[in-house]
Formats: sequence, structure tokens, C-alpha cells
Amino acid sequence: MTRPFPEDFLFGAATAAYQIEGAAHEDGRTDSIWDAFARVPGAVVGGESGDVACDHYHRYPEDVALMTELGLQTYRFSTSWSRVRPDGGAVNAKGVDFYSRLVDELLGADILPWLTLYHWDMPQALQDKGGWTNRDTVDRFLEYAGNMHDALGDRVNVWTTLNEPWCSSFLSYTGGEHAPGHTSVAEGLLASHHLLLAHGLTVQELRGRDASLNLGITLNHTVADPADPDRPADADAVRRVDGQFNRWFLDPIYRGSYPADIVEDIRGVDPDAVARFEAAIHDGDLVSISQKIDTQGVNYYHGDLLSGRAPAVPPVSGGPTTERARRSPYPSNDGIHSVERGLPRTAQNWEVQPEGLTRLLQRVWTEYAEPAGTVLYMTENGAAYDDVKVVEDGETRVHDADRTEFLRLHLGAVLDAADAGVDVRGYFYWSMFDNFEWAWGYDKRFGIVRVDYDTQARSLKDSGREYARIIAARAL
Ligand code: NOJ
Repeated sequence: MTRPFPEDFLFGAATAAYQIEGAAHEDGRTDSIWDAFARVPGAVVGGESGDVACDHYHRYPEDVALMTELGLQTYRFSTSWSRVRPDGGAVNAKGVDFYSRLVDELLGADILPWLTLYHWDMPQALQDKGGWTNRDTVDRFLEYAGNMHDALGDRVNVWTTLNEPWCSSFLSYTGGEHAPGHTSVAEGLLASHHLLLAHGLTVQELRGRDASLNLGITLNHTVADPADPDRPADADAVRRVDGQFNRWFLDPIYRGSYPADIVEDIRGVDPDAVARFEAAIHDGDLVSISQKIDTQGVNYYHGDLLSGRAPAVPPVSGGPTTERARRSPYPSNDGIHSVERGLPRTAQNWEVQPEGLTRLLQRVWTEYAEPAGTVLYMTENGAAYDDVKVVEDGETRVHDADRTEFLRLHLGAVLDAADAGVDVRGYFYWSMFDNFEWAWGYDKRFGIVRVDYDTQARSLKDSGREYARIIAARAL
């Protein structure tokens, strides 16, 4: 039985600047926090960096042609702050020009550009002044957002302020796994507030410039379930992980407040950090943060079965094994661990749990988006697998049956949510290409297009061929 997608449903694929562009020091671009972090011994598996990545900066016409081959209706990409305003200073015309050419190429191919302003690559010069822990960074971000709108506002309608602010605050400033690699509870809290403020003020600014823009933010979510629903410690583990991962961002954006239970939990472990966080919230900040948004991007990779009991065995999922100091990005979650439930896992040991996606969309829709008049798009979903390349009849093929299945299952989960009444209007597979998977380096391949990094050759994987078939049929 085939299942049709709603008529206006958009099919796309997503990438981010630092993960694919390369040309890290060309045409005036200077270091971002990721360039600097990648040089820190032990920060990235294999000591790899985004210096060359997929060389998309030079190969974008070929890459857009591949999008056409897939039948993509939209393409989600990010612009690099370090390319547009090197060192966080004056505008770099050559950097802006790259995005202008990319947008023209997309429009020429009838592909809707879906632009994200911040996918984690802040100029290192701003990090030297405190980065997202420094309120001044918010003003610098607003200048940069304004520059992008000056240059592209005539051709780009969809603007996403931030990608996954949980990662660029807690995973980066508290967990130490992402750039700048700090391990401070206070810094994670401050960064989260300033990121959210930058989001809200950017929405206000762009809305003031052009009321017809489609403005939003992309959040990453988990679906936390208790290992034993009757055990209070497990239910509390769920409350805390959900609170620090999901509600910490959803509540201020949609309701203008931080979740009080989580603030108190963190105060219990680090009162000074919470005092600094509270002092950083100025009058009016939460009103700015809770600007109406048109679109919320939902990123979903896996759920979490959680226990609040002391672990008998080490947690089963988590980040890469790097040599740098790390700590839990959840400040008050000592004792919480994931429990194995026998689901298949990806090459990163992430669970494959499509049913969680349906529940997630229903929950975000009913509790947050619908009351606010915001619509949802799946802005990321995908999986890393250890793909094997074969050459058949002189052509490179990648028979990635596991990714193909992952894609089909999750598209089905999105349709289930739509059937249940959720207004979810599109799906972007992560990622269009194999690329630089942050602290995991190039070893983890997410693409529906294979990239051979030695030659930069691109080849459509079987999952890409299947996605193209689904898009053409507009049915699963
Ligand atoms: C979320 C991030 O936005 C993206 O940059 C990353 O590569 C994928 N998840 C996979 O981890």
C-alpha cells in the first residue's frame, strides 16, 4: 500500500557550512571556533578538520546539479559567519558573494533556499572575547544577520536563526565535546541565554525589515522514556533530560520562561552558575526571545530509555571517544544513564527509534507550536552507517540498505504524525553529502551522496536513489 504525502509537503536535504565547504582560509575567511578547536590535540577523532571537507565552496554547481538529479524541492544550508565577517569584523564581499552565487544556482534549478544563519562556526576572534558567554556577541550576530539579509533578502524567504542551540551551548561550553570545548556549567547557561536572545532579536529585526519572511529556529530533541515507568527515579531522570534538552529551549521561545524545575535542579549542584545566569537575564530579554516564529525546525535522531538508578553498566550511547576532558553536558544529571532496549543502532551507536519521532512531533505540535500558530518542518533526520563502496559496470555504487530502511521508517513516522493532525510540512534528510561530523571527523558517513575525500568524487547511494523515487512519486 502506498501512502501519499500532503500536496504542499516539501522534500529536501540539509548541510552546514563548516561540514562541507572547505576553503577554510580562502577569499578572506578566517578561523571559526571549529577551525581552532580542530587543531587542539585529541579534540576530533583522527585529528581531522573542515579545511577541505567536501570542497563544496568550489564544487557547488556540481552539487546543485546532484540536488536536481534527486528531485529536491528545497535545500537547507548554513552561511559561515567567519566567511562573511572574518574575525567578526567588517563585511567580506567575497564571502557574501559565494552565498549569493549559491542562492542563484539553487533558484536557477528551482530549489528553494532554506538558510540557517548559525550552524556553530562563530569567528574565533569573538570567542577570544568570551563567545556566547559575552552579551556583546548578540550584537555582533545581529550585524551579521543584517548583512546576510541585505545581500540575500531579495531572493531568500526562509530564514532560520540558529541550528540546535543545545549543542552550541551545553555541549560546547559545559560538555566540552564541541568547540570551544569548555567544561563550565555557568558558561553553558550563559551561552544558552545569549543564543536565545540572538535568535529573538534577529527575528524581530528581520520581521521589521520584511513582514513576508518565513522566520524560525531549528531545535534538536530527544524522546526520553523511563526504563521502569513505576520507578520514581526513572521518571525523574526523564523529567530532567527532557527539561535540559527540550524544555530549556521550547519554553523560553514559546512561553517566555525557563523551566523552573530545571533552574532549581541546577542551582542544587552549582548555585554560583545559576546566580550568574540569572544576573545575565535583563528585563525584556524573555519578551525578545519569545517573538512569534512562523516555522520551527525539528531535528530528531534517536530517543533515550533512561534510568535514574546507579548504572550497573556504562551508558550505551554518547559522543566519540576523544582524548580531551569532557563532562556531562547536563549539569544536574549525575546518576542518569541510558538503558539498552534491543533496538537496532547506527554506526554511532544511536538507537533507531522512528516511533519516537511520531510522538515527538505530536508533543511539540500540541504543547507548543499549534497554540502559537507555528508550523513544523523536519529539518534534520538521518543516520551514519559504515557504507561499503563497490564498483559495478564501471560505476560506483553504495548499497546502503540500512540507511534506506532508516529513511523509509522515519518518513513513515512523519506521515503517522501528519495523519494524527500535526502540521508538519516538510522533511530534510541529513545529510545531502557525507561530511565532517564534528568531533567524530570524517569516519561517520551520513550522506545520501557518497563523497570520496581523496578525489572529491560524488556518487549517489542506494538511499539517494530511493529518496529520489519517493520524491518523484510523492508517496511512500
Ligand atoms: C545535528 C547537526 O545539526 C549536524 O551538524 C550533525 O552533523 C548531525 N546532527 C548529525 O550528528
